[in-house]
Amino acid sequence: MVTITLKNLRKTFGEVVATDDVNMVLEDGKLSTLLGPSGCGKTTLLRLIAGFYEPDHGEIYFDDRNVTDIPPNKRNTGMCFQSYALWPHMTVFDNISYGLKIKRVQGMKYTPSAIDKRVNNALELVQMSGLGERTPHQLSGGQQQRVALARALVIEPDVLLLDEPLSNLDAKLRVEMREEILRIQGELGITTVYVTHDQIEALSISDMVAVMDVGYIQQYAPPREIYDSPQTLFVADFIGKCTFLDGEISALGDTLSVRLPDGQIVKGMTPLLGYPFQLNELVRCAVRPEDLHSVATSLEDNMISGVVNQVVFVGSNIEVNFNVGEVSATSLLPSDAELEPGSLIKLYAPLSQMMVLPIGGIDALRKIPGHPLYASTES
Ligand SMILES: Nc1ncnc2c1ncn2[C@@H]1O[C@H](COP(=O)(O)OP(=O)(O)OP(=O)(O)O)[C@@H](O)[C@H]1O
Ligand SMILES: [Mg+2]
Repeated sequence: MVTITLKNLRKTFGEVVATDDVNMVLEDGKLSTLLGPSGCGKTTLLRLIAGFYEPDHGEIYFDDRNVTDIPPNKRNTGMCFQSYALWPHMTVFDNISYGLKIKRVQGMKYTPSAIDKRVNNALELVQMSGLGERTPHQLSGGQQQRVALARALVIEPDVLLLDEPLSNLDAKLRVEMREEILRIQGELGITTVYVTHDQIEALSISDMVAVMDVGYIQQYAPPREIYDSPQTLFVADFIGKCTFLDGEISALGDTLSVRLPDGQIVKGMTPLLGYPFQLNELVRCAVRPEDLHSVATSLEDNMISGVVNQVVFVGSNIEVNFNVGEVSATSLLPSDAELEPGSLIKLYAPLSQMMVLPIGGIDALRKIPGHPLYASTES
């Protein structure tokens, strides 16, 4: 297996910068996800790793081997494309064996019996034994997905690249298949890059998540860190829910004070360590719904008052939407809290859960010494 290192990667299509300034290490045997909205550059980055695209500049290493100029078929990667891309006229067996038939190991072709054995192993791995003679149209969506996965795995790749492998499946099957992928990935211990735009999927299966927006990696960290300590407003907004309050810095220190437009002071901390906040800088405070409580836990808690807009029962909790001045806020409260639309509400956010972030996004990351984007400017 291999560790993949991406250095300074950039890929443009004419005027379009599909991805830029990508620096990351995808560790041996881990499952890393590329997560982000449509068009943010996930497929482009995956295809760069596979070798289907050449970067404008930058380098790709598999362990210490520079593979930037090595063609895809010499990188030993297995790829599942965004659509399954199965050959409709071929049987399941032939779809899977295709890669083996053209592959040579040390100049030698696989023998028919070796091919048989490997295809059957791959079919077993994806729990499709016995279905080798069917053609794709005789399979359900989930089964086609398994064939696509078996086809990527049969060549015993060093790296598995999966581009939105579950996007064509219904919700229940998605969950089933994602557990299946996790099982297979764990069993084989194969370095895997998994593309998705579904945050739940990413958070639930990944060792590491790279959150992307307009071609840039906004944050690359384990799932919990992404959720608990978002480094940009985009990440805070894209992953989970947040209430955002705009203001300006009125006092600096480990605790940051932020003056809201109505003069209220909110105290919080920043997850973006090393960022040089300035007095009077415009910033945004972010707080998760579950961190707004109906009773104070400490004297330092921020009190936020508003008018209830809507109460939604979500099972074990109620989600309360309320307005703080012009801002719409959300909190998650125990379902026995009795609230009516129009009533006044007072909620408390612990100082440590009130996240203060700069407005600048990627530009803010460029101001942090030691950050992969430090001092880089858009080229
Ligand atoms: N072959 C191409 N020619 C021109 N532009 C392209 C090409 N491939 C991608 N792009 C552009 O590059 C950007 C990134 O595309 P990419 O396919 O990597 O996004 P994505 O994150 O995979 O999106 P999706 O979730 O919709 O699959 C987009 O703006 C897209 O229009
Ligand atoms: Mg894509």
